[in-house]
Amino acid sequence: MEDASTETIDFSSLPKEKFRGDDYLWQWKGFWFRQPFLQAAQDVLNHYKPLPTDTVLASYPKTGTTWLKALLYSIINRSSRNSILTNHPHMLVPTLEMQLYGPKTGSFDSFAGTANSSARILATHLPYQVFSGTINSTDCRVVYITRNPKDTLVSSWHFYPKSKEVKDPWSLEDAVEKFSKGIANCGPYYDHVLGYWKESLERPNKVFFITYEELKSETKIHVKRLAEFLGCPFDDGDGKEEDAVLDDIVSNCSFEKLSNYEANKSDDGHVGWLKFPLSAFFRQGGMGDHKNYLTTEMIEHIDKITEEKFHASGFLY
Ligand code: A3P
Repeated sequence: MEDASTETIDFSSLPKEKFRGDDYLWQWKGFWFRQPFLQAAQDVLNHYKPLPTDTVLASYPKTGTTWLKALLYSIINRSSRNSILTNHPHMLVPTLEMQLYGPKTGSFDSFAGTANSSARILATHLPYQVFSGTINSTDCRVVYITRNPKDTLVSSWHFYPKSKEVKDPWSLEDAVEKFSKGIANCGPYYDHVLGYWKESLERPNKVFFITYEELKSETKIHVKRLAEFLGCPFDDGDGKEEDAVLDDIVSNCSFEKLSNYEANKSDDGHVGWLKFPLSAFFRQGGMGDHKNYLTTEMIEHIDKITEEKFHASGFLY
């Protein structure tokens, strides 16, 4: 592993807001972060030097990161794609701030997705606005996934109380209010999405932007596009054999299969310093689940913000 920073951030100078229970968020460079995340992020920003051959999977939490980790690993490491049948996607593709930098971290060599220095895959939840200097310092590729804001919010509301550390219940009203104000882990969600979206328009050959909904609706088409973007397309010769591999990857990474592998059903283990059961990254894996939880008023409230934030920029959801 590259050397870890001893630099610390002066938290007393940062705006602080309650997230949930006794969990707090600190605002830094316009975004809200949990303390250990922000400390590890300093290490990432100080020490992670992307290689031109790196693929960086960026996302706001709860938008499909785990699924895309499995897909990217399988696309890039095609001959060892069966590793996803027995390894949690987070144990194949590490997240910079949780697993490679910060407290009790692993090394690049300890994850199959980063062990091969000529084709490393890493993930991050850092916003583009914070991370741009690092990722633009080389020619690495970035893949960004986003998701319908209401489904992202509902997924987050289910996820955070599964923490092994902060078990407090979380009212949906509070979750909606915080999300709307941008006071959420790595939030504001809207700024996070727009940062990478704008960069994908500027540099489409280096930043691949996809929505959870596109990937869910036409998985095979988009996995094929992803492979082309990553420089490892599927077609060769008559294409038949490669097409079978593509089908295999799509099927093995489907929610139904991925969520049922033993390694992914475990309540033990955790992702670096993030103390959540490994099973917490799989819930219902569908589209539109927010309709089962949010009231009409909540939906209207979020839709209005989405319109203001996204539609004004030309991004539609
Ligand atoms: P839900 O809570 O709506 O089910 P992340 O990986 O960024 O934390 O996102 C987690 C969300 O992605 C959860 O959404 C989870 O169920 C869903 N997910 C995990 N694996 C998936 C897969 N193979 N296909 C579709 N969705 C998946």
